[in-house]
Amino acid sequence: MKNFVQYAPTEIVFGEDAENEAGRLAKKWGGSKVLVIYGGGSVKRSGLLNKVEEELEKEGIDYEELGGVQPNPRLGLAREGVKKAVSFQADLILAVGGGSVIDTAKAVAIGAADPGTDIWSFWMGEKAVTKALPVGVILTISAAGSETSDSAVLTNEETGKKAGINTDFNRPKFAVMNPKLTYTLPKYQLTCGIVDIMMHTLERYFTPVDGNALTDEIAEGLLRTMITYGAKAYEDQTDYDAMSEIMWCGSVSHNNLTGLGRPKDFLCHKLGHEISGMFDVAHGATLSAVWGSWARYVYRIDVSRFARYGRRVWGIEEEEDEAAAVKAIEKTEDFFRSLHMPVCIGELEIGVQPDEILRKLADSATKGNTILLGAFKKINAQDAYEIYKAAN
Ligand code: NZQ
Ligand code: ZN
Repeated sequence: MKNFVQYAPTEIVFGEDAENEAGRLAKKWGGSKVLVIYGGGSVKRSGLLNKVEEELEKEGIDYEELGGVQPNPRLGLAREGVKKAVSFQADLILAVGGGSVIDTAKAVAIGAADPGTDIWSFWMGEKAVTKALPVGVILTISAAGSETSDSAVLTNEETGKKAGINTDFNRPKFAVMNPKLTYTLPKYQLTCGIVDIMMHTLERYFTPVDGNALTDEIAEGLLRTMITYGAKAYEDQTDYDAMSEIMWCGSVSHNNLTGLGRPKDFLCHKLGHEISGMFDVAHGATLSAVWGSWARYVYRIDVSRFARYGRRVWGIEEEEDEAAAVKAIEKTEDFFRSLHMPVCIGELEIGVQPDEILRKLADSATKGNTILLGAFKKINAQDAYEIYKAAN
């Protein structure tokens, strides 16, 4: 077994009516003045925001609100949140929403703990994060896994650059997860979420390092669970068991349990972030659009790994590794298609892109061909361009 560090400190309260615990948890984790952050209005329409604020009031917690977080959350609003948190003297940031809201809350928590520094300099790697206010989460969508992850992704709307940072200071103190809160999701957000959850494990599964058998078993079990319950959720979004399984998979898939002891790849995420940064496309859709092309570009590096994936996750019975590997890629794409998710760039709302845009995306992803991306295969600007071209 390879060495690893596992740090998953988030207290999870899972199940029906879990949001009733919001006040108790905020208080437990040090909140007396809480900045509540939310998105474009779904939590107002559902009554969840009201409910959460009532729970804060019951505990005598003072709060202010910052709404309006957009999907692919913008740096500008996070900066505004930092100002608000500092002037209110917030001691806990509470996200009520999905990955975009949570990531904004994480950015505000980092910025408010170090108000002399512009937050983008943390995202650009110019300054290391050394502290953050505590963050709590009331989750409304199973997707990004930000409720337990060490990551936060922002888009700089002035430059069109979408970037994430990974630090344990990003780990939320608590996450409230009631699957019923996800019943109101638009179908497209549900399916973007299913893809994203699967990708967080796939991006850890295909790496150059073997070993840690339990990690493989957990990863394969998670993917099988997503295939079974993803299909059920797609049929009926009010299927409590299906929505529960997906919600729990969302956290486990991105808290690093499915990748212990080996490097992460995350090339498809990088390629997807460039598309979202330039065109404001939903995250999950960018992943299904590029994964198959990435897989075909790299699978010969370790055909047996792809064959194992096919056999254990998709039940493929081909004896020959090459055939099993190719079939596994096809099966994965077929599953994305069954959810009406795009499997190429042309199927995204932006349509087929001209060559110069693909070059631009590849150049930006690799910082002008100065860095190599990924782990399963190290990818330079030309490789990235070839993958985009195959995915176009
Ligand atoms: O803004 P509102 O009105 O709330 O509507 C949202 C939004 O339009 C809606 N929604 C969420 N819950 C709902 C709901 N609508 C009805 N009922 C509900 N219960 O869904 C839309 C999408 O929300 P968003 O938060 O953007 O979704 P998601 O959780 O997929 O987050 C995506 C963002 O997270 C980043 C992505 O890049 C993207 O920016 N990621 C963050 C990660 C992390 N921090 O660990 C990892 C991921 O790989 C990902 O990069
Ligand atoms: Zn993701």
